Amino acid sequence: MALYQAKEIKDNMEDSIFGSIDSEFILPKYRMPEGESEPSVILEVVKDELFLDGNARQNLATFCQTYESKEIRELMNLSISKNMIDKDEYPQSAEIERRCVAMLGNLWNSPEGGNCSGTSTVGSSEACMLGGMAMYYRWKEKREKEGKDTSKPNMVTGPVQVCWEKFARYWDIELRQVPMEPDRLYMTPESMLPYIDENTIGVVTTLGLTFTGKYEPVEEICKALDQLEKDTGLSIDVHVDGASGAFLAPFCAPEIKWDFRLPRVKSISTSGHKFGLAPLGVGWVLWRDHSQLPEKLIFHVNYLGGDMTVFQLNFSRPAGQVISQYYQFLRLGMDGYRKIHGNCYKTAAYLAEEINKFGLFDIVFDGNPHDGIPAITWQLKKDANVKFNLYDFADKLRSRGWLVPAYSMPANAESVVVQRILVRQGFGMDMASLLIDEFKRTLDFFNTHEIGANMTAQDSAGFNHCGK
Ligand SMILES: Cc1ncc(COP(=O)(O)O)c(C=O)c1O
Repeated sequence: MALYQAKEIKDNMEDSIFGSIDSEFILPKYRMPEGESEPSVILEVVKDELFLDGNARQNLATFCQTYESKEIRELMNLSISKNMIDKDEYPQSAEIERRCVAMLGNLWNSPEGGNCSGTSTVGSSEACMLGGMAMYYRWKEKREKEGKDTSKPNMVTGPVQVCWEKFARYWDIELRQVPMEPDRLYMTPESMLPYIDENTIGVVTTLGLTFTGKYEPVEEICKALDQLEKDTGLSIDVHVDGASGAFLAPFCAPEIKWDFRLPRVKSISTSGHKFGLAPLGVGWVLWRDHSQLPEKLIFHVNYLGGDMTVFQLNFSRPAGQVISQYYQFLRLGMDGYRKIHGNCYKTAAYLAEEINKFGLFDIVFDGNPHDGIPAITWQLKKDANVKFNLYDFADKLRSRGWLVPAYSMPANAESVVVQRILVRQGFGMDMASLLIDEFKRTLDFFNTHEIGANMTAQDSAGFNHCGK
């Protein structure tokens, strides 16, 4: 090879990523650099930094999906520039969203079936806010028609996820959260009734409580409200926060009546990105019929071309998650959802049994499909003769990458400290058996080592999704 050719090749050759000039420096963290850099080098640096994040599949605190098939990745890639709000430019994505709402309307037994009103959202929090706002406006419009005071709205809930606290604070509504008791960790009809009055805009029940995984008794709550109406004439609407349960009960516990079969249930919200098996960034809210969604809340915009109805908090939003949701509906069908969720429940049952065998823990919720979602929640037995607490236990598990959060219950059950595992698609029996091995190793460690000072909730402030 002629010398000049070799030199030309060398001049044109890129440095290897880790031999490049950009790799020689600590990159700026808080001020944008002046100059440009080589994309492959920066890509590697950013990717490397992300290694410091936890491993999502070992995150047993989250309710959200951490497994995506290659088909979902392909669809997400294809839709990266599609904006869900721009229904004029992306009419087919809008049509897909409409079909998803229709499928959910049928799944949840809306009297209007596939024609019911609903929308996609970024997640359950936005879906809950929209459900809550419609509830508030219905109450307000009714009271105004009757010439009654609307200045003191309140809402009655069980132990809700923080999104409802946000809703109440942002919209200036008094949140009457029925307190738990150590032996009653959810809202019952009897505990709910004393909190209701003529200023109650509605009751929110949770199908799959964030704290324990258990379903609240929606049907009994509705029956108690039916009786209240008979006795007092007060008609109170119900919103079901089905963030997890609305994508579980229809497949794995169809005998539970919690949805639009109950006339008092006026709206339902859920997370597509939890047990809907869509990637992160999609939720749904549906109303039992058109009359439950006040016209005042709907905006019409024309600046994207065409007349578009908008009822969302955010405007621009990626469409890929909605498209992936539609893919999952078609790909899995009822059977597929039943099988995937059924396996999660089997894994949960296995874990509950194994955790019970240690003889140290009381199972608060065992993750059975008739009572809740595939989650296991437990507390230390009162007479467990051990030096560690659940915060210590969670911390030790974390040192091997497992995130199994420990946290205390809200008022009035603060004395109850629990740990919880969420079983999702991608955390099967084999992984669960590895986790149980880790439990054994951890217990051995505590048996053979002195524990200095026990950890507190503040020391082990792991994310538990309750938002508190
Ligand atoms: C019952 C309940 N509602 C609402 C939410 C908020 O959901 P998202 O994270 O989709 O906004 C959660 C989250 O875990 C939840 O468990």
